[in-house]
Amino acid sequence: MPLEAIIWKEGQLEILDQLLLPMESKYLAVNTVRDGWKVIHNMQVRGAPAIAIVGCLSLARELIQSPFTSKSELQSWVTVNLQYLETARPTAVNMKNAADDLLKTTNNLQNDDSSVEDMRAQIIEHCENMLEYDVKMNKQIGELGADAILDISSKKVQVLTHCNTGSLATAGYGTALGVIRSIHARNMLEHVFCTETRPYHQGARLTAYELGYENIPATLICDNMAAALMNTRKIDAIVVGADRVTRNGDTANKIGTYQLAVVAKHHDVPFYVCAPTTSIDIRLEHGDEIPIEERPHSEMKEIAGIPIAAPETVCWNPAFDVTPAELITGGIVTEKGVFKPEELMNTFAS
Ligand code: MRU
Repeated sequence: MPLEAIIWKEGQLEILDQLLLPMESKYLAVNTVRDGWKVIHNMQVRGAPAIAIVGCLSLARELIQSPFTSKSELQSWVTVNLQYLETARPTAVNMKNAADDLLKTTNNLQNDDSSVEDMRAQIIEHCENMLEYDVKMNKQIGELGADAILDISSKKVQVLTHCNTGSLATAGYGTALGVIRSIHARNMLEHVFCTETRPYHQGARLTAYELGYENIPATLICDNMAAALMNTRKIDAIVVGADRVTRNGDTANKIGTYQLAVVAKHHDVPFYVCAPTTSIDIRLEHGDEIPIEERPHSEMKEIAGIPIAAPETVCWNPAFDVTPAELITGGIVTEKGVFKPEELMNTFAS
């Protein structure tokens, strides 16, 4: 059975508490929008697609328990709660895109002749459908990314990935990790290297665990070993996810992505961003406009509660960085195709 970060069953929502992995697998009930906001903000669930799905499902869960007497009251409640969910984490655009989409459905329902009960049921259904749709997109990304990478190599490939982009970061299968999964399914994967991803250790705690769980041949490296790895071993491609891709192709992703892209360019290793189109922010011109979340300094000064730096040490802890479009040399793999960064604007700006 694949790892499941999000369980939605008979109107109940549970998330796998990712702060406890890999030592403990414990599911937490999410019963309200406030619960949804908290588990996203505290990173008990994380990864751009999973954030949007849990945000919307927390709204669906609360909606199941809340009677509304009028459609306008329901419409206002949905609007206010979506705005609130968007504030849980600022960098990934997926929650904002999902909110806009759900708001469109809500506004259409408010203006048609459905009853308040129909409106409530259809909003819940819209949120439920996100789970299936996300897995479908990820599988397409997996196949298209595998095609692109195997097109440049007739031999089994070695790839490097960063952070966690697998089942734990999505509704299932994964984006960059989905590409790795698809290459492995074709028996064309020699080996995966995954970075530990300081300071939150998504690579060590989640990706290495997920790869082991799936019996995919993998080796964990520290973040500062990536250049030496590319210099001493043949790495055929780097695959990473995205939290927000702007219209010129600049991409915000987990801190450390940018330095991998710089080193990849030096070593002529193709660099791929793998993300659903729900991670594209066509409203923003370029990466400088992306809000970058800064996280507590304790995440750097402690590991699992054990101090590793003097308490008075001053830190800088941005959770994401922006990789400029020109360093995304392989392409941006979406469910709709693999694009060069400069192709995004004409393809997705309507
Ligand atoms: O801080 P996180 O763990 O939410 O950051 C996750 C990433 O940066 C992922 O690469 C990105 O969200 C894509 S997940 C499919």
